[in-house]
Formats: sequence, structure tokens, C-alpha cells
Amino acid sequence: MPEVTVTEHLLLHQKLSPHATGMFTGLLYDLILSGKSIAMRINKAGLLDVLGGTGMVNVQGENVQKLDDIANHILLYRMERCGALCAMSSEEEPDLIRVRPEFPQGDYILIFDPLDGSSNIDVNVNVGTIFSIFHRPEGGSGEVRLEEVLQQGCRQVAAGYMLYGPSTMLVLSTGQGVHGFTLDPGVGEFLLSHPNMQIPEQGYIYSVNEGNRQNWSDASREAVDWFHTTRAANGKHYSSRYVGSLVADFHRTLIYGGIYMYPPDADKPQGKLRLMCEANPLAFLAEQAGGKASDGYGRILERQPDKLHARTPLFIGSRRDVEAVEAIYARYPR
Ligand code: AHG
Ligand code: MN
Ligand code: MN
Repeated sequence: MPEVTVTEHLLLHQKLSPHATGMFTGLLYDLILSGKSIAMRINKAGLLDVLGGTGMVNVQGENVQKLDDIANHILLYRMERCGALCAMSSEEEPDLIRVRPEFPQGDYILIFDPLDGSSNIDVNVNVGTIFSIFHRPEGGSGEVRLEEVLQQGCRQVAAGYMLYGPSTMLVLSTGQGVHGFTLDPGVGEFLLSHPNMQIPEQGYIYSVNEGNRQNWSDASREAVDWFHTTRAANGKHYSSRYVGSLVADFHRTLIYGGIYMYPPDADKPQGKLRLMCEANPLAFLAEQAGGKASDGYGRILERQPDKLHARTPLFIGSRRDVEAVEAIYARYPR
């Protein structure tokens, strides 16, 4: 395969994509640099003093791991200086972060989950960084207002993730399909390895934390039972896979098809996953790859966030698998 770098890929598509301006390419360059820096620390995690918790609890009420904190600070530091942003929001920060006036300002807004899959850090299982990019709405000037950031996911101009696994990957969409790049550690560049990724129409794997079953509604139980009792795309029963890192479970779903589900439950009536830094970017990728993303009743990308850390139920993956869940939920009132 000819070696195509991310920058080359973006430049090749620049004519096609109205968003691939020089400023946008610069934003991605610094995002990628942050990802490489995080990947390097994760690769050596057991050798550096970066495993375990910080003893702090974040705005989500979750224990902050040392690597959550490191990844968060790498991204905040680098991206505030990239010149393309006016504001950022991180899963680990309670409030909107406005780019301070001493740094060059741009028109983009970056929302990220610095390290997804915290519970897997200490056991050397895949984790990742998930990101979502918006434009500041037309006509906005002065200090960015929260309402300018609380946009529906369908207005994302780009989204993606960096997956820190056996190899480090960048999976990206600027609204022109989904493309995967693999980090060549020898040269330090992400090279195009998975052009035009497409989610199969129906899969043969369902992915859900069944430990929560006793807390599910009847609709959610019935939805998951559908995958226990229905023949999958391969004519066999669906198989079950659950990594517990959304980014890794999604990556498998993107490649093999099937469905990832995080229904609401009695303890988490709004669902667990964060709309803006987890569900929206992955929903953007899913749709760009021909799949679907739903909250059970409708399209994730049309949900209007009411706060930065809004949560949502999530059903994402192959079109037919997600539609099967929606058909079941449609029989139950919201
Ligand atoms: P994070 O590590 O960023 O806090 O996200 C954890 C999320 C997601 O990665 C994963 O799919 C989900 O939590 C797992 O939740 P359960 O442990 O409840 O299954
Ligand atoms: Mn996460
Ligand atoms: Mn996280």
C-alpha cells in the first residue's frame, strides 16, 4: 500500500472538504501530537509512575486515574496553544475552558474525553482519546458563551478517536467518510491503513454490560434479549463481547459490525455515557460509516445538549441491529 500520512490525506481531500482549511489541518496536527504523547506514556505505563488513582473525584463523580489526569493536561496544554480554538470542554473539567487571550484564537471548539476506558488502564487493555470538533456559530464574537458550545451532534465538523491498543490508531471523519490511520512507531507518523471504513449492515456481535440487567427497564431487557434469540448476519446466534472501554468496543463494532449498547438503568436513568465527549463523536463516525446511533427513541446527533456533561443512553453500530432496538423501544412509552 502506498504510504499516505494524515496530513497528505487531508490535503488530498482539501478541495472536497470545506473544513480542511490550513487552520483545521493545524488543529488536527496538534491533536495528533497530543495523542502521540499520550500513547508514549501508555506504552511505558508500567515503567513510569503513572498507574493507579490520583485520589481525586471528577465532575462525573468518578475516581480520576493518574493517566486520565496526564492525558487531560497534555491535551489542555497543547490545544490551547494550537491557534485554531476559541474554547474546549473536557470530560475531566467541570466548566467550559475558554482559550486565554494571550494565545492565538481560532473559530473551532474542541470537546474531548482525554482517556476513555479508565477501568482498563491498570490491566494493559485498550484505552483511547475521543474528540469532537465544532465551529463556533456564525457571528459569534467576544467571550464564547456556553450556548454556543451546546450544539447538536449533527453540527460536528469532524470527530474521531485515537485508540491506544496493540498498535496506536487514529480513526477520523471530517464528514467525507471514515478513515483509519495506524501509527508507525519507527517514523512517528500515522499512515492510512483503513481507507473508507464501512460498518456492515448487520453484525453478529452484541456488546453490553449485562451486570446491569437487574436495573434495566422492560424495554431494555427485551432489546438485549432480542440479540439472545435472533439469528445474526452469519446465520448463527449473536456472540457477546464487552471490553469496557467504549472506544475499543466501538472500534470492533466499526470493523465487524454488530451493536454496542449502554441502556439507562435504575442507578443511571439518563444513561452513563456523556453525550458531547463520547456519544456524539462516535455517532458521527457511525453514520459516516453507514451505521446508526440512537438513544433508543431517536438519532443521537439530533439531541440538544442542555449542559456540557449531559448523559445519554447509547445504541450504536450496524443499521439493522440499531433499528431492531428502536423497534422494541417504540412499543414502550418514553
Ligand atoms: P471513562 O473511562 O472515560 O470514564 O469512560 C468509561 C465508560 C466507557 O469507556 C465504557 O464503555 C463504560 O464507561 C463502561 O462502563 P461500565 O463499567 O459501567 O460497563
Ligand atoms: Mn469515556
Ligand atoms: Mn475518560
